[in-house]
Amino acid sequence: MDRKKITIVGAGNIGSTLALLLARRETADITLIDINEGIAKGKALDIMEASPILGFNAHVVGTGNYEDTANSDVVVITAGFPRKPGMSRDDLLFKNFEVVKSVSEQIKKYSPNAFVIVVTNPLDVMTYTALKVTGFPKEKVLGMAGALDAARFAYFISEKTKISVENIRAFVIGGHGDDMVPLKNYTTISGVPVTKFLSEEELNKIIERTRFGGGEIVQLLKTGSAFYAPAAAILEMVISILWNKRKIIPCSVYLDGEIGEYYGASGLCVGVPIVLGRNGVEEIIKLDLSEEEWQQWKKSVESVKRLVEKLHL
Ligand code: APR
Repeated sequence: MDRKKITIVGAGNIGSTLALLLARRETADITLIDINEGIAKGKALDIMEASPILGFNAHVVGTGNYEDTANSDVVVITAGFPRKPGMSRDDLLFKNFEVVKSVSEQIKKYSPNAFVIVVTNPLDVMTYTALKVTGFPKEKVLGMAGALDAARFAYFISEKTKISVENIRAFVIGGHGDDMVPLKNYTTISGVPVTKFLSEEELNKIIERTRFGGGEIVQLLKTGSAFYAPAAAILEMVISILWNKRKIIPCSVYLDGEIGEYYGASGLCVGVPIVLGRNGVEEIIKLDLSEEEWQQWKKSVESVKRLVEKLHL
């Protein structure tokens, strides 16, 4: 069978978990690449040795050589340094900028037609870096954040209401930082506003926990950051593109006049709800924000802007 090709840059916690999830769904053949070639090769082999038991035919290979990534349909960038306790995502800025810049140059060279999904933090700025360095169309370079933040929001709502996670549709926009904007007015349980199930106080607690959801995991793990839920969120994005599902997923995308200035934000990447299909960003969905959400949105966009300015891209 002629399968698509996905390259995952960074065979660490997120990259290898994603490779297994993608292989199990037979979404594509997968190339794992890492500066530590042994890690990429070892994890790829380990995943392939699970294939007879789990019953998938997709191929996963590991490499340290970008030539092996040539002509990928999708490239996911997870390369970089994760957070340690006490660090914010922004503390990773300069170290991860160098990583994402060099990775993006290789993607441009070897997979000029790929979709690029950025996962490395600080997410919105790294997405902007990949967009600028590759020079790819803005519809094809996206950051994974809203899908994860919304999943965390949904899980916490399910945990509190004891209603199935499958019924919960949660929404989070803005930058992938502590200023992200979980939108209670657009969050429903089987179409019924979540405010019918939870008091304002309960919801505000859940919103706060969502904002610091990544930090909660870092505190517990001590040696790294979350990877199961991030990998699941990337899987959702990859499938929506490759299988042209046209799901509405909040993603970090480039906003400007042409693609649509979004509530005063332009010239940077930040999380907004989009229709994600075979052309990448097919549509940006504009939401009506309450005054409180609008203020939070502005604060979040300002935080992303400050980081972008530090890089002089
Ligand atoms: N090229 C390729 N791989 C690299 C490079 C590079 N220039 N620099 C680092 N790596 C690899 C590391 O060798 C490591 O295997 O990236 C991998 C990162 O894996 P982990 O340390 O396990 O980090 P992970 O939890 O997967 O998170 C990756 O995603 O959520 C963000 O903040 C997080 O930026 C971090 C990224």
